[in-house]
Amino acid sequence: MSFTIAIDGPAAAGKGTVARAVAAHFGFAHLDTGLLYRAVGARVLAGAEAVVAARALRPGDLEADGLRTPQVAQAASRVATDPGVRAALVAFQRQFARRPGGAVLDGRDIGTVICPGAEAKLYVTASAETRAERRFLELRDKGEDVTRAAVLADVIARDERDMTRADAPLKPASDAVMIDTSDLSIDEAVRAAIAAVEARRGLT
Ligand code: CDP
Ligand code: CDP
Repeated sequence: MSFTIAIDGPAAAGKGTVARAVAAHFGFAHLDTGLLYRAVGARVLAGAEAVVAARALRPGDLEADGLRTPQVAQAASRVATDPGVRAALVAFQRQFARRPGGAVLDGRDIGTVICPGAEAKLYVTASAETRAERRFLELRDKGEDVTRAAVLADVIARDERDMTRADAPLKPASDAVMIDTSDLSIDEAVRAAIAAVEARRGLT
């Protein structure tokens, strides 16, 4: 039996952190769909054509080094506006979502476009300042040469592009449970997410 948990939200809201913890809790597989767009973005920065790169993507490409940089994040959000790129990535995500053991996918359009029938949907968000500060600390700890102002500008630019694109814009699904992590610790955010999924599991 498959059970799909869709987790969407803006940049650095804590989607990945929550998704990993929820997947571990339920023993489900986890796919960070942002890595698909980041891998395509990285290929485009290296000179490839976006749709060609998306069609050629293999699961192993998601483990490539250097996908977490701000430059690749911006390239990802640019290629993500291309309907041809998005279309090329749909089948892989839907197949992952139907794994018999259960799956958690996090991204921007999982509950709205990729898995509209997901058994549980969460929309994880936080204020732009909170998200930028978290991402700044994360990048600085990794030794990236970043400033707070640049990270905030990156987050705001990507949110704007992600929310206003014509194809699969970022927005909460009408049946998503909203989790604002601005004033939550990681532990509290994870507990809220698990409780929301448990409530849905009781209904299925
Ligand atoms: O996947 P997404 O970009 O939404 O965010 P993330 O990579 O899971 O989280 C961004 C940063 O915020 C990480 O360093 C987390 O440890 C931190 N964080 C969080 O996720 N949730 C909180 N309630 C507090 C901090
Ligand atoms: O970790 P963070 O939230 O900063 O970004 P990400 O989840 O790795 O996504 C990078 C970019 O890929 C986003 O800004 C979106 O433009 C795009 N993306 C998307 O369009 N659809 C998804 N399902 C996942 C990511």
